[in-house]
Amino acid sequence: MDATPTTTDLLALGQRYWLPVYRPRELVLERGEGARVWDRDGRDYVDFGAGIAVNALGHCDPDLVAALTEQAHKLWHASNVFYTEPPLRLAEELVTASGFAERVFLCNSGAEANEAAIKLVRKWAATHGRAPQHRVIVTCHGSFHGRTLATVTATAQPKYQAGYEPLPAGFRHVPFNDAEALAAALAPGDVAAVLLEPVQGEGGVLPAAPGFLARVRELCDAHGALLVLDEIQCGMGRTGTLFAHVQDGVVPDIVTLAKALGCGFPIGAMLAGPKVAEVMQFGAHGTTFGGNPLAAAVARVALRKLGSPELLANVARQAQALREGLAAIGAELGLFTQVRGRGLMLGAVLAEAYQGQAGAILDAAAAHGLLLLQAGPDVLRLVPPLNITDADVAEGLKRLRAALAAFVREHARGGS
Ligand SMILES: Cc1ncc(COP(=O)(O)O)c(C=O)c1O
Repeated sequence: MDATPTTTDLLALGQRYWLPVYRPRELVLERGEGARVWDRDGRDYVDFGAGIAVNALGHCDPDLVAALTEQAHKLWHASNVFYTEPPLRLAEELVTASGFAERVFLCNSGAEANEAAIKLVRKWAATHGRAPQHRVIVTCHGSFHGRTLATVTATAQPKYQAGYEPLPAGFRHVPFNDAEALAAALAPGDVAAVLLEPVQGEGGVLPAAPGFLARVRELCDAHGALLVLDEIQCGMGRTGTLFAHVQDGVVPDIVTLAKALGCGFPIGAMLAGPKVAEVMQFGAHGTTFGGNPLAAAVARVALRKLGSPELLANVARQAQALREGLAAIGAELGLFTQVRGRGLMLGAVLAEAYQGQAGAILDAAAAHGLLLLQAGPDVLRLVPPLNITDADVAEGLKRLRAALAAFVREHARGGS
């Protein structure tokens, strides 16, 4: 290939060399600023996807760039057999911000944070003398917890598990938002923890019903089980508070974070509350890259900015604008049955006639200069940067309306 490949050349590389586990849109992104991204052919896009709820401060936030480059000139990596300052300070800041945690384990991704949580639950149960068959972890249908073998087993969606059997033992699945089913799942007395997302992301942007998490907490306490909350997608300010669960008035035992914690630099974290903070001792778990100084330096700035009152006020303001815009578009085009979610984590549920069409709608959106996500085949997912401006929300909604109107016209002609 010559020195300046075309977009088509690059797409061919992906088709030839990548393990074909993804189906990216047919464009190659090159640079970004705020909530705008440009592809290598110079087309601009409004970014309502933020790298799957990761770029919470948009692209190339100057404070994040400064933190990263400053650290890049000092020390990139040391491993956890030596201390460096950024992960030490980050751990303290996460504990303080959480209001419940006592200790933190830093890792590189969401799946690893949940894997650490699963291992911590099992170790906790073991140290309390519970036999392996009494260390069950209950999770919810429609959940998404990652792609490692244990987290994909926790993920109660068969499509992610098929073909990977034998799956690890000791997981039980119940319907989301169904307290009675959860009570029944806990009744045998063999459950060590309940793991769930305060707002399900991949499963369709579905918030916990009012009072559900509080009931889960009660049931966990009644049955000697831990409450583990996966805030990998819904945490870090996305739903309007730094931690999503504070809106539900519960105190968890473990919380997992990733995605927006590094705002695009890979990092994950598992926060451990008082019941479990001392359970894992020397040698019990580990990682080479977790808490890498580059990642931690970025995350410290991200944490400070994402918890600021100005940013959280912007989440509320833009969430309202997006909801109103989506409602208007949905009413005009008859496309949605529901717009749901919390804060800037929104899902527009497609009407029956358009079910299964989310992927095709994402293609139409990209063609109209808008990056959008889906949550399954029937839900459009909007998770823009949390610092998105009024102007970018307005422009994104304009492009969304144009894309959807074109899609509906095409659909009526039998084109999709
Ligand atoms: C709620 C939730 N948990 C866990 C994960 C897995 O995170 P990662 O892809 O960083 O492993 C995701 C990713 O989408 C997620 O949304």
